Amino acid sequence: MKPKLLVARAIAPEVLQSLSNCFELEENQADIIFSESELVSRLRGKFGMLCTSSAKVDGSLLSQLPELKVVATIAVGYDNFDLNACTEYGVLATNAPDVLNETTADFAWALMMATARRVTESEHWLRAGKWEKWSYNAFLGADIHGTTLGILGMGRIGRAIARRARGFDMQVIYHNRSRLDKNLELEAGGATYVEKDVLLRTADHLIVVVPYSAEARHLIGADELALMKPTATLVNIARGGIVDDAALIQSLRDKKIAAAGLDVFENEPRLNPGFLDLNNVVLTPHIASASHRTRLAMAHKAAENLVAALERRVPPNLLNTDVLSRLQLWN
Ligand code: GLV
Ligand code: GLV
Repeated sequence: MKPKLLVARAIAPEVLQSLSNCFELEENQADIIFSESELVSRLRGKFGMLCTSSAKVDGSLLSQLPELKVVATIAVGYDNFDLNACTEYGVLATNAPDVLNETTADFAWALMMATARRVTESEHWLRAGKWEKWSYNAFLGADIHGTTLGILGMGRIGRAIARRARGFDMQVIYHNRSRLDKNLELEAGGATYVEKDVLLRTADHLIVVVPYSAEARHLIGADELALMKPTATLVNIARGGIVDDAALIQSLRDKKIAAAGLDVFENEPRLNPGFLDLNNVVLTPHIASASHRTRLAMAHKAAENLVAALERRVPPNLLNTDVLSRLQLWN
């Protein structure tokens, strides 16, 4: 008998098809978000789970699921996994990085450009039937080319964003927990490391790409926003909670910064209603990696991790490598 797998969210049928060669699947193509108790009851007797960031995996869940061996998220971010708890319960936890880097970098640019050039704001105005004449000074925005791009968080996605800046003759500055080596800085379009306050003061366009962690919570709050130029734009494609949304709304209202482009929010999908009243913000529903090709590649990658676990191989994107020493299987 094949081991059982819960596919906790709707995914591409071709990935289900390929997983069904190895696993007996419980699918959720209706894409219902399971509560913790529903998740527990569906996971009983399952070998593994394919999930997204909506599934919270912590000690309270795992203590009820002695048979569970692996959880694979179709995302690069894995703040929904308590890795220590996974290790404690002998559960392999994996993510789906890398295949989304370029697509996510494209989207960061899309948001930055839409924000700086007021693409969605002007479209809403046009759709509302307000366009009666062309005006010399309507919807004046900020240039992208020839300006300074600031990147907070210079991982693989940050570097992919930086590389694109060359074509726009931008100067790129970045801040990261640790400075990149010279080769990586060159690869990132010759990005220059600066302290965080210099980044905030100097960037004409700032893109936030740091992974979520407790330390990263409200990394951009009222004090940080106050350092930014009044003409600057801010883009967040990382995770809600890294930017303090209430502080950002205040700063956008008071025109302390010019505009923001946001793909992620605190408490999403229930975002702070203050955003909806503002014209100087571009809002998208957490879609930075959502191209057809990339979402398929991410799901295949998550599936590869599950198959590796099934075949007693170390999953290529194992997050809690400490768990290996706890598992008889890998000894
Ligand atoms: C999406 O937010 C991801 O982490 O992949
Ligand atoms: C994301 O920031 C990454 O390092 O891939």
